[in-house]
Amino acid sequence: MAPDDPVLADSFRQAMRRVASTVNVITTCVGGEPMGLTATAMSTISLDPPSLLVCINRTASLHGSMEDVSHFRVNVLHRDQEEVARIFADRKHQALRFADGWTVDCERPPRLVDAQASLLCRRIDHHRFGTHSIFIGQVEEVTVREEVDPLVYVNGKYGGAS
Ligand SMILES: Cc1cc2nc3c(=O)[nH]c(=O)nc-3n(C[C@H](O)[C@H](O)[C@H](O)COP(=O)(O)O)c2cc1C
Repeated sequence: MAPDDPVLADSFRQAMRRVASTVNVITTCVGGEPMGLTATAMSTISLDPPSLLVCINRTASLHGSMEDVSHFRVNVLHRDQEEVARIFADRKHQALRFADGWTVDCERPPRLVDAQASLLCRRIDHHRFGTHSIFIGQVEEVTVREEVDPLVYVNGKYGGAS
């Protein structure tokens, strides 16, 4: 099958609906302006060095700044933060994005105070592939919320892991 085969595209989409992912808000700060987006495309790369990757659509407003910044942050959302996920997944709500619950001083990328986990990453590398870019980050600082109850996205819906 060709890569642009619509049948293959649909079956790929169906397969991906069956993959459960944690929901994250990736943040940066450029020229004093905090930016962020909701992303499920985040994965650990290795423990040594501690590293992860995120995939960002090239049409997202965050994308351009991700190519320039020294650091980004992965804010892993808690189950009670579905509203945060919705706000950062919809451009209509751009003005509301950092209104509540964030530490934004722009010395570092914004941190969601009650996030399930927060990982400050040095941006090491990036690769363009198709509609997205893959950004590799080396983790420099971590904070976690004690209770383990992440927000999960599966089959087009938000929920919990249990
Ligand atoms: C559950 C969910 C997961 C998403 N995952 C990603 C992702 O991994 N990468 C990405 O670039 N966009 C992802 N998006 C889409 C962006 O969050 C959305 O397009 C956002 O509005 C882009 O930011 P902007 O409005 O500032 O351009 C996801 C959206 C949802 C609802």
